[in-house]
Formats: sequence, C-alpha cells, structure tokens
Amino acid sequence: MDTVKIGLCGLGTVGTGVVKVLQGHQERIQHMLGCKIEIEKVLAHDISKARDVEIDPNWLTTDPSDLVDHDEIEVIVEVMGGIDETYKILERALKNKKHVVTANKDLMALHGQKLIQIAKENQCDIQYDASIAGGIPIVRTLVDGLASDHIEKVMGIVNGTTNFIMTKMTKEGLDFDVVLKEAQKLGFAEADPSADVDGLDAARKMVLLANLAFKMELNLDDVKVKGIRQVTQEDINFADNLGYTIKLIGIASMDDHKAEVTVEPTLLPKDHPLALVNDEFNAVFVHGEAVGETMFYGPGAGSLPTATAVVSDLMEVIRHLRLGISGKSYVEPQFKRQLKADHE
Ligand code: NDP
Ligand code: HSE
Repeated sequence: MDTVKIGLCGLGTVGTGVVKVLQGHQERIQHMLGCKIEIEKVLAHDISKARDVEIDPNWLTTDPSDLVDHDEIEVIVEVMGGIDETYKILERALKNKKHVVTANKDLMALHGQKLIQIAKENQCDIQYDASIAGGIPIVRTLVDGLASDHIEKVMGIVNGTTNFIMTKMTKEGLDFDVVLKEAQKLGFAEADPSADVDGLDAARKMVLLANLAFKMELNLDDVKVKGIRQVTQEDINFADNLGYTIKLIGIASMDDHKAEVTVEPTLLPKDHPLALVNDEFNAVFVHGEAVGETMFYGPGAGSLPTATAVVSDLMEVIRHLRLGISGKSYVEPQFKRQLKADHE
C-alpha cells in the first residue's frame, strides 16, 4: 500500500486533534483512500513541551525547512496560526510543489488569493475548510454541494468564542471576562482573543464565505465589523425581557452583483433558529435562488471538530493527488468587486 507523508505545522489545540484523528481513524482513512498517511515531521515552538497526544519525538523540529524542503513530504498541514511567517512557509511549500491544508482564516482572508494563485501555478491544492466554522463542511458545501445554484445570501454565527460568551452571559448571567477565560481554557479562542471579541475573526470568515458564495474578490476592509465588547449584561437582560436574544451575526448578501458583508451583535427573536445555537456551536444559513434556504449547524471551534475538517481536507488533497487532478479544481472569480455601499 502507498504512503503519503505529511508535515504538520503546529501541535497545539488543533494540531494535537489532527494527530488524534489520524491515529484514531487510521483504518477507516486507509480504507477510503487506499493509502496510508504518515506524519513525517511536526513543526513546533518548544519541542520539549509535554503534549496531550502520543507522538514520535523524531517528528519534532523548530525548523520549517525540515518540512517544506523535505523530499518525501507531499502535503503540509498548517495549524500553527500567524500571518507573515506562516505566509512565507506556505509560499515556499507550494513553490516546492507541496499541497497545503490550512485552518488559518487570518492568513486566508488576507493572502488567500495570492496563495491560491501560487498553488495554481504549481499544480498544487490548497484546502481551507477548517478555517471557517470549525467542524461544519461549509466550504465544500458552497464549492460542491450548492455549485449549481446562484447564492444570494450567507448568514450566521461563525465565531465559537463570542457565541460561547453570549450564551453564558445570557443563560447563566456570568461575567464577560470569566467566560472569555473559560473559552481560552477550552481552546476555542484565538491566541489574541481580541480577534474573536472585536468581530475580526468572524469578519475574516465572512469575507471568505462571501467570495466563495458570490465568486467575487472582496477584501477584509469591505466588511463592516462591530464586536461584542460593548454588549452589557443590562443589554442582554433588556433584550431577554422583550423576547429577544443577542448574537454576533455575520451577513453577506449580493443583489445585482453588488455585495455587502457585515458582522455585528444582532437582536433575534428567541424562537429564531440562530437564537437556539448555543455555546461554541456555529450555524450558517445559505440562501440560493433555486434551493431556497438551507442551514448548516455544528461545533465551530475546538480540537477534534476542527481536526475532523482538517483531516477531511487532507483526504481530499490525497484523492486529487491520486487522480492526477491536483490544482485543477479552483473556481475562478466571476464578478468584479462591487459593493452595495458604493452605489448608495
Ligand atoms: P495553538 O496556539 O493551540 O497552537 C499553535 C501551535 O503552533 C503550537 O503547537 C505552537 O508550538 C505552534 N507554533 C505557532 N507558531 C509557531 C512558529 N512560529 N514556529 C513553530 N511553531 C509554531 O493554536 P490552535 O491550535 O488553537 O490554532 C491553530 C490554527 O487553527 C490557527 O490558525 C487558528 O485560527 C485555527 N483554528 C483554530 C480553532 C480552534 O478551535 N482552536 C478552530 C479553527 C481554526 P508550541 O506548542 O511549541 O508552542
Ligand atoms: N477562535 C475561533 C472561534 C476558532 O472561536 O470561532 C474557530 O475558528
């Protein structure tokens, strides 16, 4: 049986989950792919740190070259986060003809279009489903499942940390700072949690979703963003008394090839389906001209849910590799960037 060797960048919350999913589901994955996946090298900051997973100490390195210049490694799985240094690592990997799987929405929202271009030029895949809504396969849904439709609107809860905070503040009356610490302990929050709290993480995911849904090239600056820092316990109680729940909602819509993307705390009637999405769970509504309304729900953050998406992306990369179609399945942007606001 063939073996595909991978290099894993990062062994934190998501990275340890990836190792666990690869180890725990090894037989099933081999059966589905007809080949074995072997971890060859793992990049980390501190290779002496105790890890919550069984690892071979020979895997560990602090030098990215041990992965991206390794002759036998065919796929780089990036779950380390960061932007500038990580961009350089992935750019070099792609130029060395290594396929990439990433959970890094910060990087994809800022430099995704450049990386996809480099991937195409090198006949490589770059898959990033894990970067949006954790365990919900929303990228694949937009690219494959709803490919035949004209998507008019994507709306939902795409940040687990803020939903966890809003849920605990609403249902248990807990203090914002206490719940944020809990979300950090559970591994939901970003290294810098202000990205979650101030809505930037959700904005990054919404711009990626909008570009996939509308076949456009919008930028992060095109998103109107407001986070949850200003939402007080009084606001929550007031909304509650009136029959509403406050959630951080992202909305991307397109009319007449003009787009609008917003992220902001929003009042929802308590029986609205999105009002019922609690804790770190995410949900995404997709409205298509033909399909009508569809809704996707699942864990939006956390080690194993996110790792499931990462490993599924890795399997897709390996399927393409074996079929000889790597780098051939990108959907080209179809419409030029136009915002509704520019026409008001
Ligand atoms: P963690 O902080 O838990 O883990 C990061 C890992 O990367 C650590 O193992 C760290 O090494 C390593 N690392 C970071 N920078 C470097 C570097 N410059 N050189 C070498 N190693 C480095 O992050 P998460 O696992 O939570 O997140 C990883 C990525 O996945 C991020 O892009 C995040 O946005 C994304 N993501 C996270 C989700 C979650 O629920 N946590 C969900 C969806 C996406 P060491 O352990 O030695 O410090
Ligand atoms: N910090 C992110 C969240 C992780 O809370 O949703 C998943 O992308």
